[in-house]
Amino acid sequence: MKLIVKSKKRYTITSALPYTNGRLHIGHLAGAYIPADIYARFKRITDNDVAYICGSDEHGVAISIRAKKENKTPKEIIDKYHALIKKSFDDFGISFDNYSRTSSKIHHETASEFFKFLNEKNCFEIKNSKQLYDPVENQFLADRFVEGECPHCGFEHAYGDQCENCGSSLSPEQLINPISKISGSKPIEKETTHWYLPLGKYVDFINDWFLKDKKDSAKSNVYGQVKSWIDQGLESRAITRDLDWGIPVPHKDGDGKVLYVWFDAPIGYISSTKEWAKNENKDWELYWKDKNTKLIHFIGKDNIVFHCIIFPIILKAHGNYILPENVPANEFLNLEGEKFSTSKNWAIWIDEFLNDFPGMQDSLRYTLTVNAPETKDNDFTWKDFQARNNNELVAIFGNFINRVFVLTHKYFDGIVPKFDSLDKVDNEILKRTYEIPKLISDSLDNYKFRYSINLLIDLARLGNKYLADQEPWKLHKSGNIKRVKTIMYVALQICGMLSTLSTPFLPNASKKIRDILNINEIKWTDLSFDDPIIEQNKTIKKPSLIFRKIEDEEIKNQIKKLKS
Ligand code: 2FM
Ligand code: ZN
Repeated sequence: MKLIVKSKKRYTITSALPYTNGRLHIGHLAGAYIPADIYARFKRITDNDVAYICGSDEHGVAISIRAKKENKTPKEIIDKYHALIKKSFDDFGISFDNYSRTSSKIHHETASEFFKFLNEKNCFEIKNSKQLYDPVENQFLADRFVEGECPHCGFEHAYGDQCENCGSSLSPEQLINPISKISGSKPIEKETTHWYLPLGKYVDFINDWFLKDKKDSAKSNVYGQVKSWIDQGLESRAITRDLDWGIPVPHKDGDGKVLYVWFDAPIGYISSTKEWAKNENKDWELYWKDKNTKLIHFIGKDNIVFHCIIFPIILKAHGNYILPENVPANEFLNLEGEKFSTSKNWAIWIDEFLNDFPGMQDSLRYTLTVNAPETKDNDFTWKDFQARNNNELVAIFGNFINRVFVLTHKYFDGIVPKFDSLDKVDNEILKRTYEIPKLISDSLDNYKFRYSINLLIDLARLGNKYLADQEPWKLHKSGNIKRVKTIMYVALQICGMLSTLSTPFLPNASKKIRDILNINEIKWTDLSFDDPIIEQNKTIKKPSLIFRKIEDEEIKNQIKKLKS
């Protein structure tokens, strides 16, 4: 009997497209990338058809502002940060099937086609309005080009599109005492024309599709945010801007205008899928239009409205696309009690982490998963990182695997022993071991990453307890080799299970363990109550270190570096 019932499905899994205006830090990883990567690996190892899609978000005012700061062109900025971000993802080992960029030709074409299709279908309103304008720079002040006091909470540095203090979404005209971020001057008002998406017309749709149908499956933090948006009422939202950086509005009246970055960016998931499908000789439409495909967006909480309201409305308005099945957004991760901040350099940059802790991706994956900001904001501290690594990965997981491998070599020259009969205690622990795949699989299906990784460590803990209780070293001394064989056989099955179950969470450790065990990756859907994971008589390799301890000195240095 199989441990997990096989039911092959197709998944389009996305992680938020990062803005190419800075490097990646571990707060990014914790929110939208590590959980998505675990999920994608989990869906692959349970034999599904997976497209895990991402790319760089290269339009929008954030890019232009960074370009001005660095005295470069926006193109130079996106090329620089796209390369850095892509390298960080590669080096860290996020298993995207495709990582594209929104400056690509395929994306410009896809987003333009989307706009034209919706425009021809009369899905937009075209409206004139007065908008803030910088009289010194002769430029409209969209989104982050303008700052001022938030009308809701009084925060003095709210942006023209959002207040980062209270999270409310804003338009530049709502700001009190606005100031141009470009020239520092006081804006004037000037009339302009834009295309608007009439969100208000889709309230019934969001009510039915999300608030009613996803009441049980959506995460409570996500559900609550969407409900409060709908309760406040939805207003039409401009999807074009008077800017010179972005995708030109494909319309005869679109001169000097570009698509709003939040209109084009989510379409980036589609264009990245197209790019991948072309390279892989696949049909991209299956991943976006087939009713049997499950679309899952992994994001941080600041992106909820775009993925649960605006993008679904765009897809719905188009009519030919599937809608997201789930949007398991995470809350935020803080660092040593404070918000991550690029400008204050209060961050742990991925490239620096990998320089200082080479080969320790799994330790960070572990800490960020066990401490994931799944339902509330959470804090990363260096001390906790050290403790999680040393007390859990090294002392529980690594220790169990290492003891089993060392003893197998010591007693049986690395050959998996044959056993005669299993005692009650052996049967019990094997039964528990064989229950874990289904438990982990069910909790991952419910986006409970913290709980799942705890189940994994608990299995290693159980293995340690089994060895401590059975004391094979004493039995060996007293000559009860028959019993030692059984114990080591059972312990090796647990190692085998740990190697396969850790694949989505700790891919590097899992591969090292499989190498020593001389086994290939096992699909969870092939695991069966009747088959051992590690065959008798098989030879395993000499053990090598799977996790290393982190010294106090290393942590002290990191804290010093952060605070300097
Ligand atoms: O918040 C951000 O960093 C955005 N660049 C996320 C975009 S996600 C998307 F829809 F493309
Ligand atoms: Zn505010």
